[in-house]
Amino acid sequence: MRNLFGQNIDISDRFTTDANIVVFHGDCLELLKDIPEKSIQLIVTSPPYNIGKEYDKRINIDKYISQQALVIEECVRVLSEKGSICWQVGNYVDKGAIIPLDTILYPIFKGLGLVMRNRIIWHFEHGLHCSKRFSGRYETIMWFTRDTKHYLFNLDPVRIPQKYPLKKYFKGPKKGQYSCNPLGKNPGDVWDIPNVKCNHVEKTEHPCQFPVELVERLVLSMTNKGDWVLDPFLGTGTSIIAAIIHGRRGAGAEIVGKYIDIARDRIKRTLEGTIKIRPMNKPKYQPKQINRISIFSEDIADEKVHQLKLFEN
Ligand SMILES: C[S@@+](CC[C@H](N)C(=O)[O-])C[C@H]1O[C@@H](n2cnc3c(N)ncnc32)[C@H](O)[C@@H]1O
Repeated sequence: MRNLFGQNIDISDRFTTDANIVVFHGDCLELLKDIPEKSIQLIVTSPPYNIGKEYDKRINIDKYISQQALVIEECVRVLSEKGSICWQVGNYVDKGAIIPLDTILYPIFKGLGLVMRNRIIWHFEHGLHCSKRFSGRYETIMWFTRDTKHYLFNLDPVRIPQKYPLKKYFKGPKKGQYSCNPLGKNPGDVWDIPNVKCNHVEKTEHPCQFPVELVERLVLSMTNKGDWVLDPFLGTGTSIIAAIIHGRRGAGAEIVGKYIDIARDRIKRTLEGTIKIRPMNKPKYQPKQINRISIFSEDIADEKVHQLKLFEN
């Protein structure tokens, strides 16, 4: 297969250090066994949340934590000296009580000696509409490195536009110079990126895909060209797609056959340059402002006007 950059690239089904892309059909622990120690620059994944999705049989939470611990331990073994692990999770729900998975998985990373660099809030607009609590509209990405000082972080490729890009100092020794970085600003640790629901251009039949742009930001800031990006819970191949787009190598494991087929197909289309992907930093769709009252029936509208008047008084 010839890729975007004119090279011949094959999709390998087992890990070898001279491969460029590895899509392993099976348990991630099997794939991890074949990966040499300290060879992976970025591990980025979203594991099952143990909430009974079609790929995810609910098990006792302690058993879930020990299964995650086994995978995390192996990930730490293969992580390079200056590498990063990004574990993206939401909530486990038990009889209506929510348990944020980052709170129960954090001690595993800490216990293995890793350092948390950021707890990124990924905010999105679409999801279940709750009636007995506020609807969940964020998940988190825990970013860990081995060390507080020695790790790779490239900020420039992921800067976002400044609010006032042409703003200059108006007094003092720097008068007339730009007061903000012309390359853009740090994107911060709250990321507003649309999640992949039915109208998203990347949607497949998988219920919980990463948007490619979410992984792109991690790939660009935490790896260099040619580095390995690994996703132990690959799903539809999103992490490998983000890796390929930016000239990195990608590997992942997925246990469900139909998702492997989707991942392979998406990866092939990425290599051919025919896949449709939402561009990084594309502004979000902003619905037109509707007169709030007009969306209610007349009776309700009257009541609403009344309430608003009371409020104004
Ligand atoms: C939350 S989804 C990840 C989706 C992925 N981020 C994407 O963009 O498509 C988790 C995936 O892990 C897979 N999975 C669950 N247990 C696994 C295991 N032990 N080894 C490999 N994959 C597994 C599930 O089938 C599911 O597709």
